[in-house]
Amino acid sequence: MMTKIDIRLKDEIGLINPNIYGHFIEHLGGVVYDGIWVGEDSEIPNIKGFRRELVEKLKEIKPSVIRWPGGCFAETYNWRDGIGPREQRPTTVNWWYMNDGKLETNQVGTHEFIEFCRLVNAEPYFAVNATTTTVLEARNWIEYCNMPQGTTTLAQEREKNGAPEPFNVKYWGLGNESWGGGGCMTPEDYCHIYRKYGIISKSVGPDLHFIACGPYEGIPEWTEKFFDKYNEMYTVGRVPPMFGYSLHYYVTNTGTMGSELEYTDTQWYEMMRIGLDMEPFIQSQYEMIRAAMPETSVGLIVDEWGVWHLQNGRHPLPGNYLFEQPSTMREAVLAALSLNIFNNHCNKVIMANVAQLVNCIHSLFLAKGSTCVATTTYYVFDMYKIHQNATSLKTEIDCKSVTFTIDGETHCIPSISCSASIKDGILAVTLANIAVDEDQEVTLNLYGGQYAGEGTIVVLSSSSHKNGNSFEDPYKVTPVEQFIAQTGSELTVTIPKASVVLVRLNVS
Ligand code: AHR
Repeated sequence: MMTKIDIRLKDEIGLINPNIYGHFIEHLGGVVYDGIWVGEDSEIPNIKGFRRELVEKLKEIKPSVIRWPGGCFAETYNWRDGIGPREQRPTTVNWWYMNDGKLETNQVGTHEFIEFCRLVNAEPYFAVNATTTTVLEARNWIEYCNMPQGTTTLAQEREKNGAPEPFNVKYWGLGNESWGGGGCMTPEDYCHIYRKYGIISKSVGPDLHFIACGPYEGIPEWTEKFFDKYNEMYTVGRVPPMFGYSLHYYVTNTGTMGSELEYTDTQWYEMMRIGLDMEPFIQSQYEMIRAAMPETSVGLIVDEWGVWHLQNGRHPLPGNYLFEQPSTMREAVLAALSLNIFNNHCNKVIMANVAQLVNCIHSLFLAKGSTCVATTTYYVFDMYKIHQNATSLKTEIDCKSVTFTIDGETHCIPSISCSASIKDGILAVTLANIAVDEDQEVTLNLYGGQYAGEGTIVVLSSSSHKNGNSFEDPYKVTPVEQFIAQTGSELTVTIPKASVVLVRLNVS
C-alpha cells in the first residue's frame, strides 16, 4: 500500500516553540564531569572549561533551552555550594551517590552553567530544590541571578564572583518529581509547596516563569487532584502564576524491548508503540487542565523524555557512567516520532527537554577523554531544527499499519509518523518510517499552494536498523542530503525502512 499524506497550508496548528527542541543536563554519571565539563586546565580542547567539540556541535543544532541541575539531583542541591572561587567550593554528596560512588565537586555551578548556555545560545531553565532547602534559599537564588547590578547584597556578591550583569533566568521549575524522588508528596501537599515557593519568590522579579511539577505517565490522576487543590486555593486568593506544567515521559525498557543493541523486530515495534502513547498522554493531561481551569494559558512542558534502558546487564561503554547507553536507529526513529508529536501538539506543548544531553539515557553525545561522538539522536535534532519558530500544519496520514503480538497481546500501530511546518515560504516535512522491514513510497499531497521549485531531502538511515555511532565507528550513521526539484501539488518520495527523513521545499 502506498502512503498518502495530505498537507493543508491553511490548516495551522500554531507556532512551534523553539523550546520544544530543549535539553537537560543533570549532575549525574558522566553528564557534567567528563561530559560537558573537562576543566580549563585540561588537555582536551575546551572553551572556558567546556568540551569544545561538544559546544560547537551543540550550537549547530540550535539548542534553545537547557534544564539544570536536575532531575533528582536538584532536590538536594544547595546553589551556594556552586558559586565563588572553584578551588574553595565544598565537596558534597550527590543525590545519585548510592549508584555510582561519585562525589560532587561543585566545579560547575550557576556561573559556569550560565556560561555554557551563552556559548551555545540557549536559555537557562533552573530546577529549584523544593524538598531539602528553605523557600528563602530558593528565593535567594533567584535574587542572586536576577537582581540588577549594585542593588542587593546578593547582586553584589554575584558581581564579586565575576558577573555584574544579571543572568535574567526566566524559567524556574519549582520541584522535580515531587511525587517521587522530590519528596514523595501527595498532589495536595505539593500544591501547598508550589504556592509557598511561588508566592515568596514572586517578589524578586517581574518576569519569572514558574513551572509546576506534574505527573509521569504512570500517575495521570495526579493532575486532577493537583488542580482541584489549586482551584480551591485560587478562590482563597494568593496563588502564584503558573507558566508551565511539567510532565515526564520515559519509554522505559525493563527487558521487553531487548537490549540497547540487540532486539527483535517485535521488540522494536514495542518501543515505538510506547513512544506513540505519549500523544494520548499529552492530550488527556491537557484536557484535564482545561477542564479544571478553562481560562488558563498554562502550557505543557515535557521536561524529561526519551528511551531509558533499565534492563539488567548494562551495555559496557568506555565511560561506564551511570545510565550511559549506546543508541542505534531505534533511538533515532523514537526521537523523530516524539518530536513529531510535539510539533503536532505545539498548541499545548511549549517546551520539551530530552533526557539527557551526554553520556546518559537518550543522549545526543557520548564523550570520554578526548573523544566525543554524536549519536543518531543528535542528527535527528539537526534535521528537525528547521521546525523551530515555524507554523505547524495539520497532516492527514493514510498508511499501512503494523500488527505485532507481545506477551500474548496483539497491537496495531501506524507505520509512518509525520509532522509539517511552514516558515518564510519553505515547507518542512519530517517523517519517520517505523516499519523495520520495508521501504515506503510516500506521496505528499499539498493543498492551498504549490511546490515551487528546488528543495532538499535529507535521509538518516543505515544498512541495519541496529547500527549507531560509537567510539570505534563515530560516523557510521549520518544523514545524507540530496537536491530535489518539484512543481505542482504532488510529490512522491521513498522513505527507507527504519529511517528518519526531512523533505524541505519552497512552496507558493
Ligand atoms: O533523568 C534521570 C532521572 O529521571 C531524573 O533525575 C529524574 O527526574 C527522573 O526520574
